[in-house]
Amino acid sequence: MFLASMVLIGWVAINEPGRMEAFSEQHLARSVEKGAELFANNCAECHGPQGLGSGRAPALNNPHLFGIDFFAGIDADIASLEAAQQNITHIQAVLSGEAEAGDDEDTDDLEALLVTYTEEYGEDPLVAIDEMIAAKETERQSLQSQLQAAIDRGYDPEDPSRLSQLDWGGTLDAFVLTTLVSGRPVSKSYWPEPMPAWSQTAGGPLRQDQLQDLTNYVMNWGAERTWTIEDLLAVQQFAKVPAEGGASDVESVAPEVSGIQAAEVPDQRQTIDDTVAAVVEELDGLTGDPNNGQTLYTGSLACSSCHNNASIAPPTDGTYTRVTETRLQDPALADYTERHYLVESILVPNAYISPGYPANAMPQDFGTRLDAQSLADIIAYLESQDGPDPLAN
Ligand code: HEC
Ligand code: HEC
Repeated sequence: MFLASMVLIGWVAINEPGRMEAFSEQHLARSVEKGAELFANNCAECHGPQGLGSGRAPALNNPHLFGIDFFAGIDADIASLEAAQQNITHIQAVLSGEAEAGDDEDTDDLEALLVTYTEEYGEDPLVAIDEMIAAKETERQSLQSQLQAAIDRGYDPEDPSRLSQLDWGGTLDAFVLTTLVSGRPVSKSYWPEPMPAWSQTAGGPLRQDQLQDLTNYVMNWGAERTWTIEDLLAVQQFAKVPAEGGASDVESVAPEVSGIQAAEVPDQRQTIDDTVAAVVEELDGLTGDPNNGQTLYTGSLACSSCHNNASIAPPTDGTYTRVTETRLQDPALADYTERHYLVESILVPNAYISPGYPANAMPQDFGTRLDAQSLADIIAYLESQDGPDPLAN
């Protein structure tokens, strides 16, 4: 009896993770299936039936979206050959007395190292490595010419990842989901029609679970796949990078700070502080209209598409209360007023990342898309959100 129950417990303990995995695999497979159907009905007309793109939208079934760098292997080889070359040049200079050895370098070790290099690359390693680099460069050029058809359709081998092209710091999953949630209202300036907002919270037709199914479907194009050059050549249309400043013609509030990654550029801190302070002063001379602010927030700027769902962004409800009772209690924000915090959060979202949320998720370009009166209206709307904060409990 005792033995039997031990065996049973052992069996359950061993198999539980396997069973969970099988269960979540099934769940994912069903979600991908539902996503495929939603895609055929809602997305294929612009993104193409196989997700390869069309004149109306970029490909999603696309090595570029998944950040595949076809040159990475060759470039890494060239880099390591160049490193070896530098190393050998240095060793030879030290051994011939033309250069000083480094503090932690010992002549015997350097001689031994040079021997291993000649064993690997032959009697004249520098010449041999030069030839190898030249061969790699040729290989690179021939790869580049194989990709020419893709380059003609907008692929840039120097910029092999869509996410880094957009300075997106989060995961691809989150990128796809947030694009679906709020759409890309500004993309109408460089595409025939903009990417629509799909979430019901942004006035679109789809529920959150359907957006998740679609995201799983798109992600499934890259799952356990070895992308080939043929995959890249199959892409009919790559993403377009809008011309600088072409997206909007509204007067800009703070172009000099918008898009700055403050956390990574500490010496920009003063510029941000000064600019935000100047904007706050400008707003003090205006009267904000909270109703118009709400229209912008839920309508054309689609702030609410992210700020309605606490799992994507801090909820709109109780924003002002949260700023007073939680954010401004953070010593990092010691000298801030509520308004300064709100303005900074909108113009330079990365200057302070609300705890529990990712950097780079909020668009960084509102500073170039808002004029001062619109910003005053939005701030007036957010200042009216002084009820209980749903995040505080
Ligand atoms: C009316 C045409 C249209 C429809 C319909 C449409 N999209 Fe888009 N989509 C676009 C355009 C245009 C872009 C490019 C936006 C940009 O470059 O900022 C885009 C971009 C995207 C992106 C981001 C890709 C990138 O490289 O930036 C994703 C993900 C996406 N769409 C998914 C979908 C899904 C899923 C559906 C169906 C629910 C869908 N789209 C329906 C036009 C459309
Ligand atoms: C694509 C999603 C997205 C959109 C669209 C968006 N935000 Fe955000 N926002 C976020 C995320 C995520 C955070 C939290 C991370 C951070 O601090 O950047 C945030 C933070 C904020 C905060 C700070 C809130 C707090 O509790 O600390 C404010 C204020 C804000 N956003 C206002 C706006 C306004 C106004 C707009 C429209 C003009 C907007 N957001 C559009 C995602 C978004």
